[in-house]
Amino acid sequence: MLSESPIHIRTTHLDSKLQKRLLWFLQQPGCNWVLSRCGEEELSVLTISRRGVYLTNGTERLAFHPSMAIIRLMNLLQGGSDRFLDATQLKPGDSLIDATLGLGTDALIGAWAVGEQGEVLALEKSPILAAMVQDGLYHFPETIPRCNNQAKQDTWNALVQASKRIKIRCGEHGAYLSYIPTNSVDVVYFDPMFRKTHKKSDSIQPLHKWSDHCPLNHTSISEACRIARRRVVLKERKNSSEFQRLGFEILYGGQYSSVDYGVILV
Ligand SMILES: C[S@@+](CC[C@H](N)C(=O)[O-])C[C@H]1O[C@@H](n2cnc3c(N)ncnc32)[C@H](O)[C@@H]1O
Repeated sequence: MLSESPIHIRTTHLDSKLQKRLLWFLQQPGCNWVLSRCGEEELSVLTISRRGVYLTNGTERLAFHPSMAIIRLMNLLQGGSDRFLDATQLKPGDSLIDATLGLGTDALIGAWAVGEQGEVLALEKSPILAAMVQDGLYHFPETIPRCNNQAKQDTWNALVQASKRIKIRCGEHGAYLSYIPTNSVDVVYFDPMFRKTHKKSDSIQPLHKWSDHCPLNHTSISEACRIARRRVVLKERKNSSEFQRLGFEILYGGQYSSVDYGVILV
């Protein structure tokens, strides 16, 4: 269940830039904001600082950062493969709905793969996550580090361009998909919170507190099959019974990985 408890929000300085960013967050729907002067220890606190935006709760900390997407894109640009792209088979000009945005890593890689003519719509049920990623993508160009390495610089630039193609909408994907016309997008992708997680090894552990954990339902999958022209893809824990329950065929690969991808060809 998504937490509806208040989120304290504060800026570290009084600059007009940070105040503008604070106002933008206050206008985002669905968050139960409380203006705060200092970060109270046991509460969820969104801090807007000159170095970025981060959400904390006691010792837990969450921030949007494209570092994983950079690593994946560097690998792709050096001729490597990416299991998400192998599963989705995205190509330039395609349209993708990422029905579970999370921290936006897959959406960024998808947006790179579909290129300038393509489009990505990303849905996220958690209002705070949707707002943080939206803010992070908007301020992405400011976060690019100075790289001496040209290949790395090109990767950052390519990802910044890709980030501009992502449209984020906050809402429950089942409801959202039901308004989308039949056969109108190429690929619909689901990467829900896993039914069972390996606590220690789970790299998205910080997401847990602020994300939605409900299992995927058949209605969302049939809506996805209705609107997709080519395929619906599911990422889940290896050997998850979710693939069978929801009618996905598991793709081979990732022998040493803890996740699998499943596909429904439509
Ligand atoms: C595992 S994360 C996705 C990670 C993402 N693929 C990435 O690359 O960062 C799953 C996300 O889906 C969201 N979610 C779960 N159920 C949802 C639903 N019914 N509608 C929209 N978003 C949902 C969760 O809140 C969570 O942020």
